[in-house]
Amino acid sequence: MIIRDATPDDAAAACAVVRASIIELCLADHRGDPDILGRWLANKTPETVATWADGQGRSLLVAVEEGAVLAVGGLAHPNEITVNYVSPQARFRGVSSALVAALEQRAIALGAQEIALLSTETAHRFYLARGYVDVGVPVGKFGTAASYPMRKVLGRAP
Ligand SMILES: CC(C)(COP(=O)(O)OP(=O)(O)OC[C@H]1O[C@@H](n2cnc3c(N)ncnc32)[C@H](O)[C@@H]1OP(=O)(O)O)[C@@H](O)C(=O)NCCC(=O)NCCS
Repeated sequence: MIIRDATPDDAAAACAVVRASIIELCLADHRGDPDILGRWLANKTPETVATWADGQGRSLLVAVEEGAVLAVGGLAHPNEITVNYVSPQARFRGVSSALVAALEQRAIALGAQEIALLSTETAHRFYLARGYVDVGVPVGKFGTAASYPMRKVLGRAP
């Protein structure tokens, strides 16, 4: 597996991973509610994902193996993780750990000392185990019960 910057040519495959990850893995968040899913997926189109890869104040990284996109990660420069979705087929193989580490390295290269994100319920334990801490009150997003504002001081273990 390699992690590299996405190009607009990756948009269709990256978009498919994002949508499958939300639909199949984030059940604790959307609980199968079609209204929540509809709002969450509304902007998850290849056209929109292509704009995430435009390099304009943001980075989009893809984890790729044998030509297939396994996961998609986005950073709003310099220090906000805005996208982190793994393919259901690639879950629990260390892909997201590697991708988040790459996003953190990108933020460090941009001069950031801290990094922020809004975690799903599904990924909350994953981020806690990687040094992120809750900051502030959970918020509902797309109608979900709770998304967790989190931060991590960069350059410290884990
Ligand atoms: C939670 C999630 C982000 C983790 O991504 P991943 O690529 O599967 O994670 P990794 O393989 O790098 O890390 C493995 C994690 O799963 C656990 N794990 C590994 N194998 C497992 C298995 N067979 N069953 C259950 N958990 C397992 C590991 O213990 C580790 O979690 P922990 O260290 O917090 O205990 C991903 O699985 C997921 O559900 N994504 C959905 C989209 C989403 O919510 N994205 C976040 C947006 S903010």
